Amino acid sequence: MSNAISFARGAPAPEALSADLIATCTADALRADGTRVLSYGTGNGYPPLREVLAAEHGVGADQVFVTNGSLQGFVFMLETLLTPGDLVAVEAPTYDRALLQLRLHGMEVLPIPVQADGMDVDALAAHCAAGRVPKLLYTITNFQNPSGATLSAGKRAALLALVERYGFGVLEDDPYGKLRFEGDALPGVFAQDQSGKVMFTSSFSKTVAPGLRVGYIVAPKDAAAKLTAAASRTYISPSLLAEGAIHQLIIGGHLPGNIAKVTALMKERCDAMTAGLVHMPQGTSCTPPLGGFFMWMELPEGMSADALFQPAVDAGITYVKGSDCFLEGGERTLRLAYSGVSPAEIAEGMERLGAVFAAAKR
Ligand SMILES: Cc1ncc(COP(=O)(O)O)c(C=O)c1O
Repeated sequence: MSNAISFARGAPAPEALSADLIATCTADALRADGTRVLSYGTGNGYPPLREVLAAEHGVGADQVFVTNGSLQGFVFMLETLLTPGDLVAVEAPTYDRALLQLRLHGMEVLPIPVQADGMDVDALAAHCAAGRVPKLLYTITNFQNPSGATLSAGKRAALLALVERYGFGVLEDDPYGKLRFEGDALPGVFAQDQSGKVMFTSSFSKTVAPGLRVGYIVAPKDAAAKLTAAASRTYISPSLLAEGAIHQLIIGGHLPGNIAKVTALMKERCDAMTAGLVHMPQGTSCTPPLGGFFMWMELPEGMSADALFQPAVDAGITYVKGSDCFLEGGERTLRLAYSGVSPAEIAEGMERLGAVFAAAKR
């Protein structure tokens, strides 16, 4: 149908992409360091950007590994730091592409339910106590994809205590944390870790532009060296011009303003979608997030977001089936990304979606 509205893509709206600013930063990178950004580099990325990120996270630059998007870094991590059959704990629901990669790489996945205040850390503790200690926990701590939930301060402390006790590794993925609509940021799991077992990953896809493909991992030195070797045998070096532009954007002091601009655009969209919840069937449960890109919903008993996917497409609306974000189950759930569409499209889309759901309920 014409005028299709996509609530499926976790991408920033066109208004959030600052083409003029990125043009200036790219020109600055070429002027300041043209030969280097136009040459092959090392697998771990553009050294000046690694240094800036290292300073932000209080680590050495040899612990920072910059990749063509953070999903690529995640895949390198699966290839080099884990072995097929390893037990990897994930939130249930979790980021669908991460789940897909875990399966493609033959990992055994241990799902840990997500509650309103983030992952059920007690459930993870119970698995550990029963001898099911994961090799790695993959957690999205802020405005989680897809649930929108943020791990509470208490649960962060409880998780770190579990890491100390059982010694498993953690990958904290935080591409959305800086896009907070209200309240103060909580100290990160990586930032508070004393054990050296926690790694961190983030991306400039949500705060600047996904087309630049710049993401990174902060890891112990030996792990970062293995990741670097994987990158260099796969693509020699990542896109240094894109990394140079991000570096100029940061050292030019433009990042906070860009984040404020994107956050305001996302809040406007989240508010529009929250207002549109009136069109959802009675008994739908949804807690609007305090930041990020996504609204998560559970339809009432007896309804299936999987079964209603095609009728919604026929009405010109796409969403992500919640079941894609779980190892099993989740048929009543769906993820609506408000990030990529305008408030007017959101209002129209929620009305259309409500009509599809209402017709199914009758
Ligand atoms: C939680 C999470 N991690 C990683 C990514 C991948 O980001 P990138 O564009 O840096 O590969 C996404 C993108 O949707 C995401 O939601």
